[in-house]
Amino acid sequence: MTPDTGPASHFPTRVFVGAIVVLCVALGSSAILNYRSMIELRNLYLEDRGREILAILTNSLRGPDRSDSNAWQGVMDEAMRSGSYSWLKYLALVSESGQVTATSGQLSQDLYLYEETVRAPRWGRQGGRWDHLGPRQQPEGGSPAMLRLRVGVVRSTAAFITRQAYLHLAVSGLAIVTLSVLAYFLARTFRRFLQLQAQEESQRRLAALGRLAATLAHEIRNPLGAIKGLTQVTQERLPRDHDTQELMTTVVTEAERLERLVTDLLTFAKPRSMALEELDLKALLADVAQQLRNQAESAQITFQIPTPQPPATVLADPDGLRQVLINIFLNAVEAAGPGSKIDVAIESSQQRHLIEICDEGAGIGDQDPEELFQPFVTTKTRGTGLGLAVSRQIVEGLGGTIELRNRKPRGTVCRITLPARASSTPQSEVMAAPAGGQ
Ligand SMILES: Nc1ncnc2c1ncn2[C@@H]1O[C@H](COP(=O)(O)OP(=O)(O)O)[C@@H](O)[C@H]1O
Ligand SMILES: [Mg+2]
Repeated sequence: MTPDTGPASHFPTRVFVGAIVVLCVALGSSAILNYRSMIELRNLYLEDRGREILAILTNSLRGPDRSDSNAWQGVMDEAMRSGSYSWLKYLALVSESGQVTATSGQLSQDLYLYEETVRAPRWGRQGGRWDHLGPRQQPEGGSPAMLRLRVGVVRSTAAFITRQAYLHLAVSGLAIVTLSVLAYFLARTFRRFLQLQAQEESQRRLAALGRLAATLAHEIRNPLGAIKGLTQVTQERLPRDHDTQELMTTVVTEAERLERLVTDLLTFAKPRSMALEELDLKALLADVAQQLRNQAESAQITFQIPTPQPPATVLADPDGLRQVLINIFLNAVEAAGPGSKIDVAIESSQQRHLIEICDEGAGIGDQDPEELFQPFVTTKTRGTGLGLAVSRQIVEGLGGTIELRNRKPRGTVCRITLPARASSTPQSEVMAAPAGGQ
């Protein structure tokens, strides 16, 4: 599979992000709680102040000497004496119906109002000045008229507390936003770092595996060749209808499968220099289709290959290109259902040849096609996951490209491009990517 960073390696990032989230939640909750307590404190303060003011006013308005026309002035005097003048500047009397009946000073924006209901005093505004209005007429059977009293507190401790509460809320909000942004970038960097680390580790392991595979493949190759060759010789010597013929064909097919695996492993582990020569792509395609005839027939699949004329000449390594085509054809055969066909098309221009190998299988679904090109990525129980990786290694070594796409209405298309003219890369440099690469 791809250099798998696995769930375990994401663990530190998750812990880190989790810690930041907890910190932000704690900060947010503390800010909200703090804000609420401060507002409560302010209200308590205002209530206290309000009661104090009310006591002064009630005494002033209802006291035995206060029923004269200078009642309002008396209130002010009283307030001045008790040091409450700054509040009384912003005092307003509001009737039960909500009408302002008397005010002192002006109301400012920075004003908190404490409101209380008191029994209506017996004075009011008359002809532009404050006057005693005489004994109040009590409504029959009704309660005495009441007035609402509003007291403004300006630039007071209450205002200060409120400002602090808002400031705290704003600073906490800013801290949370900054922390979140920081956490996002840090987590991203951290994750990238972990991925790079995992990739490096995976590359090291692949390189070691490649060396081991190369040794093993060399050891397997010769006896494998002997098994296949001798079985074919025996087959030729026996009559065509001999009852062991079919068994021997199976031995040859399986030996060929093993041979391909060994070749892919060797190519992947130790890319060889390519022997470039001019060859006809169409002839090679026909040859490969012929070579895979047995597998295609047993899967009831037919190949549709382009007509041989005009030839499509490329400068390529015949063995390497054959290996690519076999891998792609076999993938198509393995994906396509019985009775379907595999369509091969070539489109040639002066610069390049485009080869499209289309099958009518299930397609690659939602899978990232690039991931399928990673070594050892396979969805098959008997797959090695080397076919596409090695094919890309070879095609890119020839200066071409290879990609896999879903095809409409169904199936997969593998598109290979190869330069039509001689590659300018000197032969000694035409090497595929190093072992462990893709
Ligand atoms: N023609 C195709 N149709 C559907 N899936 C494909 C096709 N070719 C390749 N794949 C997917 O890509 C994976 C990797 O292919 P490959 O590298 O050749 O390895 P392997 O054939 O051993 O699985 C396959 O396991 C399969 O899931
Ligand atoms: Mg394959």
